[in-house]
Amino acid sequence: MCGIVGILGKEAVAPQLVDALKRLEYRGYDSAGVATINQNKLDRRRAAGKLRNLEQLLSENPLPGTIGIGHTRWATHGIPNEINAHPHQAGNVAAVHNGIIENFRELREELTAKGHKFETETDTETVVHLIHDEMQAGKRPIEAVSAVLGRLEGAFSLAIIFGGEEDLMIGARRGSPLAVGHGDGEMYLGSDSFALAPFTDEVTYLEEGDWVVLTRRTATFYNEDNMHVERQATTALASANIVDKGNYKHFMEKEIHEQPEVIQHTLAHYVDFANGTVRFKGKLPFDFASLNRISLSACGTAYYAGVVAKYWFEKLARIPVDMDVASEFRYREMPMQENGLALFISQSGETADTLASLRYCKQEGQHIASIVNVPESTIARESDVIFPTLAGAEIGVASTKAFTCQLSVLLALAIMAGRARGTISAGEEQAYVKALSELPKFIRQALKADNTIADLAHELSKVKHVLYLGRGTNFPLAMEGALKLKEISYIHAEGYAAGELKHGPIALIDETMPVVVIAPDDSYYDKTVSNMQEVAARDGRIILITDESGAKKNALEDSTTIVMPTVPDVIAPIVFALPVQMLAYYTANFMGTDVDQPRNLAKSVTVE
Ligand code: F6R
Repeated sequence: MCGIVGILGKEAVAPQLVDALKRLEYRGYDSAGVATINQNKLDRRRAAGKLRNLEQLLSENPLPGTIGIGHTRWATHGIPNEINAHPHQAGNVAAVHNGIIENFRELREELTAKGHKFETETDTETVVHLIHDEMQAGKRPIEAVSAVLGRLEGAFSLAIIFGGEEDLMIGARRGSPLAVGHGDGEMYLGSDSFALAPFTDEVTYLEEGDWVVLTRRTATFYNEDNMHVERQATTALASANIVDKGNYKHFMEKEIHEQPEVIQHTLAHYVDFANGTVRFKGKLPFDFASLNRISLSACGTAYYAGVVAKYWFEKLARIPVDMDVASEFRYREMPMQENGLALFISQSGETADTLASLRYCKQEGQHIASIVNVPESTIARESDVIFPTLAGAEIGVASTKAFTCQLSVLLALAIMAGRARGTISAGEEQAYVKALSELPKFIRQALKADNTIADLAHELSKVKHVLYLGRGTNFPLAMEGALKLKEISYIHAEGYAAGELKHGPIALIDETMPVVVIAPDDSYYDKTVSNMQEVAARDGRIILITDESGAKKNALEDSTTIVMPTVPDVIAPIVFALPVQMLAYYTANFMGTDVDQPRNLAKSVTVE
């Protein structure tokens, strides 16, 4: 989604704004812009495309001023060009915006009738015209913003500055996150603490409906009823060091290779390896032993982590699990039983649909827990308990290390639940913990398949469609593999339950359609081999991802095998996530796509 930053500083802010935007570029990257006030005059620079285009523009045509706002855009209304890029301006008002103003058409018609002239197709431009209109009618900036906020519908965050006001910035949050950073005689606004980290670690998060009036020395908060409220500052955890790619070509490649380390780090939070037990360091506000049901919801890759977890919770802890994509769950109006756990999975902790599902479950009286990678995020803050993934900042838009860390946490929780409910014994718990302790080693081994996979990537880069098949916990991995491939290589791919092949997708099979089969030599292997034979009989080309013994058993002639280490069944989905990530990565890299910032995508999806 769009990234927002604002600075009330002591020196020229344009270069600092651009630096902060670099840290937010992973959120959206189809255009960018900054506006500052210098000698009371508002001015702005905007450029379509990546941030480097804006940097170039600023080097040719610098923007002085010690107060300013900046934005990286992920288009919702209006194509990504310079005109539609933020900041938007009307008279002496400029604003940057993340989210969607749902009633902008009515507001725009009303303003047009009054004589306002619109330059863009964006919803954001309506906001600056509305504020400008109120100011023309005689209101001061703060009163004008307060009046306008009451008229806006939708989910958004805003940062606003005013020509002639060099010590005033206003921020507002409804639905989309916004944080104030407190400096020494300076003040900042950012869509997350990550943007603010180079400036300060003292951060106040706006609560839902809040808006804030900033000067260099003060931050005055108001709630949605325009009542003055106190909001506490906290120390943000985001690292000030701009995350770099090290020796890797892309963040995604680096993040794939970080997995042994970050999984180990995450597991250390949940597993007592010395005693062979799983535990949670905090206090659980519910008891796994008496839970009636778990309702999991999440989006995209996090959803697939949840589908794997459904198998784990049902098998190990015998708890019935509902797993839904959050963008549908929120509209299902599902009746929920007493003493149910609603568990949300989100890397960013800001995904709008997941947050809406959380709020629904809260109303339904569920225990609210979340697995998040950003502990200061909205989903984390609205949960009764959070189970952190300690994956570190994930910059590549396609999720990799966050996914395997989510799986690691989910497996630890399923084991914990199994013990609490008496469905697994202490001995079984020890065996599972041993398997978890070996995960980093197995993942390092999995990474060694990179040469075979890179060779296959040349072949895949030439095809138009790919089918992924898996059974049991490999079914969600098949869907995840297909999602990863289409996201970054733009090759059409579908993930199917292997048993569903003959119910439809088999019609697609011919020599032009590679079929990636994810099948370790587990209790389903022979059944999946039958599906592979059905594909081979129709001239389909098989890419089999299996383990050493599965590879030995594979007698299909025209197939390529990616060999993973032989691992305990329970951790196989985590280890087998690696080859599907690598297959997508190497294919996209070979094709030369923008792997870290694939077209049309955004990292943190704060619109519905
Ligand atoms: C895919 C991907 C997305 C996210 C989804 C949810 O590679 O990254 O599908 O998984 O947008 O995002 P979070 O986990 O931040 O809620």
